[in-house]
Amino acid sequence: MNILGIETSCDETACAVVKDGREVLTNVVYTQIPLHQPYGGVVPEVASRAHIEKIHGVVKEAMRAPVDAVAVTYGPGLASSLLVGLNAAKGLALSLGVPLIGVNHIEAHLHTPFLFDAGGPRSCAAESPESCMPALGLAVSGGHTTWIDMPSYGAYEIIGQTLDDAAGEAFDKAAKLLGLGYPGGPVIDRWARGVPITDDLPRFPKGAPRPGTAALAGLDADLCVSFSGLKTALLYSVRKNPPKDDAEKARLVAGYQEAIVGALADRTTRALGRKPYRALVVGGGVSLNGRLRVRLAEVAQAAGVRLLLAEPKYCGDNAAMIAGLAYWRRNVTDDAALAVDVDPTLRPGD
Ligand code: KG4
Ligand code: ZN
Repeated sequence: MNILGIETSCDETACAVVKDGREVLTNVVYTQIPLHQPYGGVVPEVASRAHIEKIHGVVKEAMRAPVDAVAVTYGPGLASSLLVGLNAAKGLALSLGVPLIGVNHIEAHLHTPFLFDAGGPRSCAAESPESCMPALGLAVSGGHTTWIDMPSYGAYEIIGQTLDDAAGEAFDKAAKLLGLGYPGGPVIDRWARGVPITDDLPRFPKGAPRPGTAALAGLDADLCVSFSGLKTALLYSVRKNPPKDDAEKARLVAGYQEAIVGALADRTTRALGRKPYRALVVGGGVSLNGRLRVRLAEVAQAAGVRLLLAEPKYCGDNAAMIAGLAYWRRNVTDDAALAVDVDPTLRPGD
């Protein structure tokens, strides 16, 4: 079964065709990063206009006939960006006479480790997503930092999250503050590479939420993070002791990265200790981070679970994850899906 997926929730215009949920036949991603670079972050108005300009070409390039269904991200994300993809998908589904399947963007990030390229070596060793359940999901991107309990494939319950900034946002804001460019994650990753992790690295708050804060909304503080204090700490640190040279700057960002990665690794360890999981499934742009990959490998090994990471090209936003996960939703769709609206604050499991 071939499903065509469309993704426009943020600053990537993407379309892909995936066979039977895992085998990626085509995968086209147009990234708007250069358009947003001058602003140091995504500008919603610029993003939606660029989606409108690009969606047609991107879909045309990825299209492979025959397609048995069309899938699309309907949340979470920027409303004006989501609308472009959703309306394109509705038009396409109607004109092809195939069902439309709405997909949650965060749930789709957790499908990325199960994707592999048609014709290439099968990079994903997992027999099937079902064989890896129950799993702990960790979605880490520019918009989200969420720990998700996955008792079976297709079931999601949030057990922890950030109370303010997402991990990617914390990287992006730090890079902006230090004038290192946008997006900040890859730049900080590069600057920090090669810096030895020693006790005398500059220290930053460990991202622990204030106990009893209402923002926890019923979640366990032990499984949540708060990253907004980090950038303030960085600002004060730079004001007080501006780095004198590149070596000092590299040590500064390595310490900052260590605080983020340490918090993510620590909550993951705690979550893995709470249930007999089989796997740790990780997705999202921040899962490209070299240091995070090392730490998560240690955490998974210590807990005796399998670590499932996506291939680098499927870590950031793409449509293969949308078309892929939709295969597990193919039986729950009907014509009513054409009435689906965007839901910018959609949560996993909703
Ligand atoms: O998943 P993604 O492409 O888009 C969202 O759904 O948000 O993630 C983008 C985020 C950005 O904040 C970017 O700085 C971060 O992922 N990122 C990284 C790295 N590569 C991208 N963060 C840390 N280390 C990296 N190597
Ligand atoms: Zn994303």
